[in-house]
Amino acid sequence: MEKSKTDLPRRELSVGEVAARSGVAVSTLHFYETKGLIKSMRSRGNQRRYPRSVLRRIAVIKIAQRTGIPLADIQKTLSALPDDRQLLASDWERLSENWKADLNERITKLTALRDQLTSCIGCGCLSMRDCPLRNPHDTLSEKGTGAYLIEHAGEDGDGAVQTARPDAS
Ligand code: FES
Repeated sequence: MEKSKTDLPRRELSVGEVAARSGVAVSTLHFYETKGLIKSMRSRGNQRRYPRSVLRRIAVIKIAQRTGIPLADIQKTLSALPDDRQLLASDWERLSENWKADLNERITKLTALRDQLTSCIGCGCLSMRDCPLRNPHDTLSEKGTGAYLIEHAGEDGDGAVQTARPDAS
């Protein structure tokens, strides 16, 4: 028996079909689109249509988001890949390698932060000079000595010691 045109799998999906298959809300799909993470085309009736390859792209986006990678970084990485084909295992290997390095770096920083937090519990001084959480890597020492805090109070926008400005009325 010959297959009719309607028996053939459609190459494009509606936004509702993409939402159902990916488990991502329609509003999120629209958001992804505004951020340039996915792309759609328009049907003759001016409805969104997505290539089937968008499903794998969405899976990659969701995984990257779970690891805390900012959407802008995800968008930048995905924009380097062609829109018109399915993401391949080799694409995923490359992406995940880059993101793994980023994840490891963040784990290292967060582990150090957790350990510093532990040492600060019970102290509470929050001293700009002594507290590693308040002044990580002693950054103020690079900016100047002595009266730096008083002269530049409030300029860094970090909630540092606030003093009245001389020109304030
Ligand atoms: S709160 Fe005192 S050293 Fe961090």
